[in-house]
Amino acid sequence: MTEAIVAKGLAKTYVGGVRAVDGVSFTVEEGEAFGFLGPNGAGKTTTVSMLTAGLRPTAGEAIVDGVDVFAHPSQIKQRIGLVFQESTSDNDLTGREHVELAAALYGVPRRETRSRVDSLLERMQLAEAADRLVKTYSGGMRRRLELAVGIVHDPRVLFLDEPTLGLDPQGRSGFWRYVKDLQKDHGLTVFVTTHYLDEADTSCDRLAIIDHGRIVALGSPSELKDRLGGDVVTVRPAREDPRIAATLQSVPGVLEVTAQDGGYRVKCGRGEELVPILVETCAREGFGLTGVSLKRPSLDEVFLELTGREYREDEGMTATDRAVRLAQVRNTFRGGRR
Ligand SMILES: Nc1ncnc2c1ncn2[C@@H]1O[C@H](COP(=O)(O)OP(=O)(O)OP(=O)(O)O)[C@@H](O)[C@H]1O
Ligand SMILES: [Mg+2]
Repeated sequence: MTEAIVAKGLAKTYVGGVRAVDGVSFTVEEGEAFGFLGPNGAGKTTTVSMLTAGLRPTAGEAIVDGVDVFAHPSQIKQRIGLVFQESTSDNDLTGREHVELAAALYGVPRRETRSRVDSLLERMQLAEAADRLVKTYSGGMRRRLELAVGIVHDPRVLFLDEPTLGLDPQGRSGFWRYVKDLQKDHGLTVFVTTHYLDEADTSCDRLAIIDHGRIVALGSPSELKDRLGGDVVTVRPAREDPRIAATLQSVPGVLEVTAQDGGYRVKCGRGEELVPILVETCAREGFGLTGVSLKRPSLDEVFLELTGREYREDEGMTATDRAVRLAQVRNTFRGGRR
């Protein structure tokens, strides 16, 4: 596999001394959806800005699609697509005009522009609304438009900075369907920041959890959850029997059995594999069951375990964050560095 993104010891201390990113290292394989997950102020946007040549790091290296980002920032723009939550759309342009403008900015050949813009608008289900002003678009439509704008030049790596912030659950899962389709059809690598744990869990192949500018965990969602000591299967017997706990405990793979509310909590590594064995064992021993349920640990618990604090995803963006982000977007478009 080829590496689409390599970050080595990336760090950023802002003027004034805020250590926003404190030495992060990771690699993202080509075609992977990599999630950068963390609470407000963790350093996600700062990392994206560095990886996309919008912001100069205090230390470290970054290679994106084979190009050294800080040595050749101007070569990066063509290779990447960027979608920021903070809408960069101009309300007084139509959807089509936006995508055409982006195509021109990125130097898409004129003879290709028309068909490419049409097919993207079609794909994002914006064909009907294409000639309407963006100010008439819903939040979800705007996000899809931003996605079309972000990929009009056929980038190799797509950076999404909290692309679904503020969308309802339906809008969020819809947005992800489009991203997944692009990933599949174009072999696109996706680097996404989010503070929605559930979205990271279902949509990313691998995740880095970032807190106070440092990566505190890295792995696939299930690997991260496995580290907590696995799943919990709850077994509900039809009748109390003092032998049940010992029977459950004797099943290979069971780590711990505790009685709870007339049932038994069975901690184990791989719950889905153990459920049929537990059911079979109970049947063989003559214990009738009224129910069996499986609960996998959530990323919330992973975060709690790693940082000792509850994860909070309900805080919105501050006005400063918004201003900073817009400045970073503009800077990236100009190809400037700070
Ligand atoms: N231009 C700047 N100057 C000074 N401090 C900054 C600047 N941009 C960000 N910061 C600070 O750096 C830290 C990391 O910010 P960053 O925007 O990278 O976090 P984030 O994980 O993207 O947060 P959010 O979830 O709120 O978007 C925060 O403490 C933030 O206040
Ligand atoms: Mg951010």
